[in-house]
Amino acid sequence: MCSRVWFVTDRRIHQEYPQVQILRALKQRCAEDDVEFRYLLMDQIVLTITDGQLGLRVEQEMVTSYPQVAVVRVPTPWVQSDSDITVLRHLEKMGCRLVNRPQAILNCVNKFWTFQELAGHGVPLPDTYSYGGHDNFRKMIDEAEPLGYPVVVKNARGHRGKAVFLARDKHHLSDLSHLIRHEAPYLFQEYVRESHGRDVRVVLVGGRVIGSMLRCSTDGRMQSNCSLGGVGMMCPLSEQGKQLAVQVSNILGMDICGIDLLQLNDGSFVVCEANANVGFIAFDQACGLDVAGIIADYALSLLPSRLLTRKMSLLSVVSSASETSSEPEVCPIPCPPGSTNAGLPEAVCTMSVGSTSSESDPELVEVPALSRSSQPALPPETSTYNINSLLANEIKLLTE
Ligand SMILES: Nc1ncnc2c1ncn2[C@@H]1O[C@H](COP(=O)(O)OP(=O)(O)O)[C@@H](O)[C@H]1O
Ligand SMILES: [Mg+2]
Repeated sequence: MCSRVWFVTDRRIHQEYPQVQILRALKQRCAEDDVEFRYLLMDQIVLTITDGQLGLRVEQEMVTSYPQVAVVRVPTPWVQSDSDITVLRHLEKMGCRLVNRPQAILNCVNKFWTFQELAGHGVPLPDTYSYGGHDNFRKMIDEAEPLGYPVVVKNARGHRGKAVFLARDKHHLSDLSHLIRHEAPYLFQEYVRESHGRDVRVVLVGGRVIGSMLRCSTDGRMQSNCSLGGVGMMCPLSEQGKQLAVQVSNILGMDICGIDLLQLNDGSFVVCEANANVGFIAFDQACGLDVAGIIADYALSLLPSRLLTRKMSLLSVVSSASETSSEPEVCPIPCPPGSTNAGLPEAVCTMSVGSTSSESDPELVEVPALSRSSQPALPPETSTYNINSLLANEIKLLTE
């Protein structure tokens, strides 16, 4: 059977860095490995059900060769269940392994949905409230009081730090309520004061941490997003940080994701949010990585032919190990979360395969953790800002 991989994305984002890089890497890897490759935009796909069977048409022609694996990039803030998710469901129901799967994308479409998935699993989360009914922001002015002030306010569908505010007090919240647009509900979240203007972006592929980046705002604002002028540099991640990121990625069923973590004074982390359509221009630069190349390697590793090769090599390792009764040497590779379609035992996912297995954690520098006692007695925003601007300057100097 011929191996086929598709890359499906959206016309509105197809010229942005991650999509351009993934296209380049997939084309290259597929050419090298004799895998048939096709690039499609969402709006080129027509879904059919004829004679009771699912099918596809592209440019007025019926598709006859379907992919075993499709890498999908849809702009999460605008994802529509009735169009985008319908296309992805169709492909999945036809037996295609999607990276990311539609359910995983949906888990990250709405920030509150993400927290609903994570709650009950022992994942550290800042306390967060939201509301039912339409246009109910105002009622939260009283209801969110237990979260204290300042309180973080976010649009459930916001992105790039643009729909996130820090409300000082009740009056400020009341003033904001007049400016609020109600396409999606808002959530109200405990302010993680010690992480003001800083967070750690962790990128995972196949449930494995491929790198982490400290992001720092440069102008005193709470949001550290690079798209708002924040600067990033590669940073190490503690065991707790890594385990937390892996746990979040697994619970959400993600193949590829970016997880934002907020650091507490004791060095431990809480989850801020998870991104299904993670951008990686700043991350590639800061960490010296080719995330698109890692994604392409991972996608090809999911092809049934590759999984079979891995199974065979596992069997040969197991049989030679039993002959010599010595421990086999295995290297971790990205293991597809919930990889039930592979039908392979978990151990198979730890076998070395392709270039992905050689990706090791980069050499990293320490993230400065502030101890509670060393914090100056200035108002929290001022003190954290000073430290953040020092950090931001350091990062700029180091990355120039
Ligand atoms: N509860 C919080 N306490 C402190 N800082 C926060 C909190 N929530 C978000 N932030 C800051 O705001 C940034 C943007 O918030 P986030 O939830 O990631 O939204 P977006 O999807 O817009 O990036 C985060 O990267 C972090 O720096
Ligand atoms: Mg974010």
